Amino acid sequence: MAIMQNEKLDTLYRALQSVFVHHPTLVVAGASFGDEGKGKVIDAVMRSYDIVARYSGGANAGHTVKTDEGVTVVSHLIPCGLAQRKTCVMGPGEFFDARLFLKEKQEAAHLLGDVSDILVDPMCALWTPYHGLLESYIESLRGKDIIGTTGKGIAPLEALFKLRVSPVVGHLFANRDELVKILGLLHCVLQPLFNEMLAQQLVKEMPNPSQVAEELLGLAADIKPHIKDTSFWLSQGLAEGKRVLFEGAQATGLDARFGTYPYVSAGQSIAAGASVGTGLPMQAFSATLLVAKILPTRVGAGPFPSEMWERDAAESYAKEHSAYFTDKSKKQVFLAEALGKINAGTASRPEWSQYFQVLGDERGATTGRGRSVGFPDIPWLQYACRINGPQWLAITRFDMLSGLRSIPVVVGYKLDGTLLRPGEMPPPWRLADVEAVFEQWECWSENIYGTGREADLPQAAKVFLQRLEERIGTKILLVGTGPERDALIVRT
Ligand code: IMP
Repeated sequence: MAIMQNEKLDTLYRALQSVFVHHPTLVVAGASFGDEGKGKVIDAVMRSYDIVARYSGGANAGHTVKTDEGVTVVSHLIPCGLAQRKTCVMGPGEFFDARLFLKEKQEAAHLLGDVSDILVDPMCALWTPYHGLLESYIESLRGKDIIGTTGKGIAPLEALFKLRVSPVVGHLFANRDELVKILGLLHCVLQPLFNEMLAQQLVKEMPNPSQVAEELLGLAADIKPHIKDTSFWLSQGLAEGKRVLFEGAQATGLDARFGTYPYVSAGQSIAAGASVGTGLPMQAFSATLLVAKILPTRVGAGPFPSEMWERDAAESYAKEHSAYFTDKSKKQVFLAEALGKINAGTASRPEWSQYFQVLGDERGATTGRGRSVGFPDIPWLQYACRINGPQWLAITRFDMLSGLRSIPVVVGYKLDGTLLRPGEMPPPWRLADVEAVFEQWECWSENIYGTGREADLPQAAKVFLQRLEERIGTKILLVGTGPERDALIVRT
């Protein structure tokens, strides 16, 4: 059995190698609103590369990877290429939380053994308690318009860095006075807000700059061995013929500028972020693979044109019905009943959503929040392809359509009665007014879970993929059919 398993994986890796051998560098980015399964795709493709570099995001990300030994590794800050034991680079575009880094490293070491091959750029913006406090203060001011952040201080890290009042990782290794000085400036800038927070009893006490410095410096010795000028190191590696995969975090819809502002994260999640987030010139990037879940999902707030149900309702559904997610037999009974209704044409939109939420265990890897699910969305993917310019798409979780007679697919966006052109996107504040135009697409009765060859797909599934790539206008190279490493089809 184990040998068969390895054969399947070897075939997969050979097929991937035959494609990626022509591309010494590869950017893997997310198409929709995060949680597309980039971790699994990166893990598979990683075999063809020597180094993996993160260029954006921080502890807000959550990439889940299953190793050959069946170990599940969830990484937040450290590139998930770690599970393939590759050199991991945390580029200057990444937001760095020293405590969480050391915790994650320790957990990874427990699962994977030696994990010392991680390089951290000294220019990564450095988390302090002030960033976390500022984030919760701003969220509290937004009232019902809360963004629903992951609480990792991401936007304050980006904003205060750009205001030039916030430390970077390298400050931990310069002289202590420099660190205290910049923390003092940061504290001063935020003081009026902190006073307000104290007055409103949003916090009990505010640490002073010296206390924060001591706490951070206490972690510095464990971080020091990882510090490297990663931009220079990567450029040298490329010159020596090393192959580099750039691991995107979050996704196009969460990109600070090209996503659904203000309901976005703060990093440059799109493929172009790989250049500014690592300090490598644009010509260093030879290909982009854009990862899209067949049924996109969203957590937090913000527009989502193909969404099946209301966000809050979907989020609380996962909390209130956790037994359907965790208890195998309850889950099976629920899914069979819900699928029956869907195929009979009697399911409401909330029931469609509930079915896919439970089927896909749609709960966030970082926050555990329930994810809201959308129908397959061609106009969004056309936009994401225009912004990221990928050579290929990876469509993940394709097996989730198994057993359905058919599914509504969004094939166009109408705004004020006019159909938008492919790749066109209204400004984010008009996105909620978009009317999704649906077509009903045929699915298949066979369960394709775990399928690793296109030839083994039912004809209707093959037709579905062909139609999808024709409409989007980008080749679908990879198709995910389950969480296991070998549940991946390479369409050559
Ligand atoms: P932040 O990145 O914590 O500032 O959160 C901003 C928005 O992005 C919130 O709606 C989050 O739920 C969302 N978000 C951030 N990171 C991820 C991710 O890795 N997957 C899905 N959503 C994310």
